[in-house]
Amino acid sequence: MKSISPAITFIGVDDDNLDLFEAQYPLATGISYNSYLIADEKTAIVDAVDARRTDEWLALLSAALGQRNPEYLIVQHMEPDHSGSIRALMAAYPDIKIVATKKAIDMLGDFFEDLDFSDRTIPVTDNDTLQLGRTKLSFLTAPMVHWPEVMFTFDETDGVLFTADAFGSFAVSTATDAWPSEARRYYANIVGKYGVSVQTVLKKMAGKDIKVIAPLHGPVLTGHLDRYIALYDKWSRYEAEDKGTLVAYASIYGGTAEAARMLAVRLRENSGEDVVMIDLSRRDISYGVAEAFRLDKLVLCSVTYDGGLFPAMHNFIHHLSVKGLRNRRVGLIQNGSWAPVAARIMTEMLSKMKDMTIVEPVVTLHSRMHNDNIPVLTDLAESIGKA
Ligand code: FEO
Repeated sequence: MKSISPAITFIGVDDDNLDLFEAQYPLATGISYNSYLIADEKTAIVDAVDARRTDEWLALLSAALGQRNPEYLIVQHMEPDHSGSIRALMAAYPDIKIVATKKAIDMLGDFFEDLDFSDRTIPVTDNDTLQLGRTKLSFLTAPMVHWPEVMFTFDETDGVLFTADAFGSFAVSTATDAWPSEARRYYANIVGKYGVSVQTVLKKMAGKDIKVIAPLHGPVLTGHLDRYIALYDKWSRYEAEDKGTLVAYASIYGGTAEAARMLAVRLRENSGEDVVMIDLSRRDISYGVAEAFRLDKLVLCSVTYDGGLFPAMHNFIHHLSVKGLRNRRVGLIQNGSWAPVAARIMTEMLSKMKDMTIVEPVVTLHSRMHNDNIPVLTDLAESIGKA
């Protein structure tokens, strides 16, 4: 078990055989459910873990505790990937008290209807403190940094900030290379919708002497914390990290894909900027959502299907919209063998998002890319690069 500070031990567990996180996001190597034991004159656990790993977690906890009992469980987030093992914890340690926001305490009753939490909870809110001995904890509410009951916990003595889902990654705890790619994919897809809430909690963090960021997924962060915080600031403002274009395509027989590739070649020739292609039918869209957050331009290429938009593209734009992506320049390529309507539908969907600028010309293919499409694709590649 890894020591985070003189009083804090990492007791998180890695889950390396979960097929889909939240039943939708593929994992490259797995994900961790992080948990921490603070052992001072009093002992506190910061968050439980997913029920899938209860036995392993309780064994780690027991080993870290030695002969002691835990006085407190600090619940920062009630989503089941962090609360699923609370029932087993309460059974093992009947005297433990739960420290959480009022909203989280309400949720405890919803998730564990048959458990009696009376006299076992301590509600806290902003600036409340908990003294464990040398270690003094203070709490920062972080509503909607992913759910409404979320809070962060700051160890004022040793500068460890526990940040719930924020600063987490789609990664196991030892994946030191998770940043930025798997942290960005986690942010964009899990937290991305809640940029305003992230901005609020970043302001609460400002001025604190933070030496370690301890999230609930992926590696604990030490050193260069300003870089991670700067990325969170950028992502939550929906500002692109890099100049470049994501070319996302939905193609059935390859005609639309061919035009997407031609456009990518032109973009690379023109700009020298990063150009990333994604086949929306074959690559999980969470990777596309993450790249759309990273880059400042987007080209959407879709075939028309059943008089509408091909499902993979519809799903992609729907996700971008739900996650609140905004302020991007967007090019459109549509295909249709007799009545192309994909561009009209993509335009309608984009019009409901904030500050999305559609760049002319819109390219229309009839079944395949033809010679007369090439100058129009070239024009689009030139136009999209213009500020
Ligand atoms: Fe890792 Fe929102 O739960």
